[in-house]
Amino acid sequence: MAALKYAGMDDTDSEDELPPGWEERSTKDGWVYYANHEEMKTQWDHPKTGKKRRCAGELPYGWEQETDDKGQLFYVDHINKRKTYFDPRQAFTVEDVLVKPKRYDGNTAALEILQGRDLSDRVVVITGGNSGIGLETAKSFALHGAHVILACRNLSKASKAVSVIQQEWHKAKVEAMMLDLASLRSVREFADSFKAKKLPLHILVCNAAVSTQPWRLTEDGLESTFQICHLGHFLLVRSLQDVLRHSAPARVVVVSSESHRFTDLLDQTGKVDLAVLSPTQKEYWSMLAYNRAKLCNILFSNELHRRLSPYGVTSNAVHPGNMMYTAIHRSWWLMTLLFTLARPFTKSMVRMKI
Ligand SMILES: NC(=O)c1ccc[n+]([C@@H]2O[C@H](COP(=O)([O-])OP(=O)(O)OC[C@H]3O[C@@H](n4cnc5c(N)ncnc54)[C@H](OP(=O)(O)O)[C@@H]3O)[C@@H](O)[C@H]2O)c1
Repeated sequence: MAALKYAGMDDTDSEDELPPGWEERSTKDGWVYYANHEEMKTQWDHPKTGKKRRCAGELPYGWEQETDDKGQLFYVDHINKRKTYFDPRQAFTVEDVLVKPKRYDGNTAALEILQGRDLSDRVVVITGGNSGIGLETAKSFALHGAHVILACRNLSKASKAVSVIQQEWHKAKVEAMMLDLASLRSVREFADSFKAKKLPLHILVCNAAVSTQPWRLTEDGLESTFQICHLGHFLLVRSLQDVLRHSAPARVVVVSSESHRFTDLLDQTGKVDLAVLSPTQKEYWSMLAYNRAKLCNILFSNELHRRLSPYGVTSNAVHPGNMMYTAIHRSWWLMTLLFTLARPFTKSMVRMKI
């Protein structure tokens, strides 16, 4: 095969030789597919053997994948200064034994779920994307081509997070924008600045949170855990819902927690009392405030889904896992101790714990 020679590799697999009119190609992440130029169709199965194959390794050293004006992938060999539409990884393909659809569970990492997805036309906003789960989520989206905006309260931390992601892939489209959920003014300003960019919004991840911090009122006069975890996100989604609807299919993901189970919104007589959401300092217990805010996350997500799904905008609340070692414990030494002790047994940010 001339293309193989061009890529500096010899064709040794004659058993897999394609019938005339067929061409072997590969997707961005290395899955092999077959194009029939006569019938103008593509398929995953080899036309002769019926087997699915995938590239076994990375691009050779010095090679890079690019996309041309028509969206077709090509490969640049920087060392020998040449270009080819043949994927050099195709010289080393292996049979795909995982023909069944993949099953995901609580131990599946974001990168595994996104494997094979091309998100290059997607715009994602992640609140608190500079740390922990938010950063890992941002990285996973960006490495799959999405334009990711880290909506963060500290721009210097956010810029570091942008660099971390771009160190993994220099073409990652990531930027940081200012958003302090403890200020309703800041939320509105973020929404206005985002709209000024005239971008669509396909995925909004309401991830930012604080936990077990001392009682503090925000500039809006509300208890800060409640405002940061829930109310700020509520206003953010409200302010951006027109963009979400115009970008449909779109989705909101609200990062909640299983700890929402350990509370309710009732007063002592058993009636719903919204005043418990922003208690006075005397009535404040930080863990309870967090749990209540996380309960609000779920109630909000469910209602949002009910209202917006007819317009193609879905909403889901997720529990990311128990006691994952992020910065969430930083406000209280006891939490830090518990998170440290639990660390060997809990999920890490990127992969399943053994
Ligand atoms: N880790 C767990 O075990 C666990 C379990 C269940 C649920 N969750 C949920 O997972 C989500 C992510 O938490 P994480 O564990 O990744 O914690 P994390 O590392 O502490 O990340 C929290 C993020 O929220 C940001 N944030 C805090 N206050 C903010 C504000 N006023 N405005 C904007 N951003 C603000 C933080 O920014 P700074 O870096 O500037 O502080 C940080 O980027 C949270 O919703 C949390 O409730 C975590």
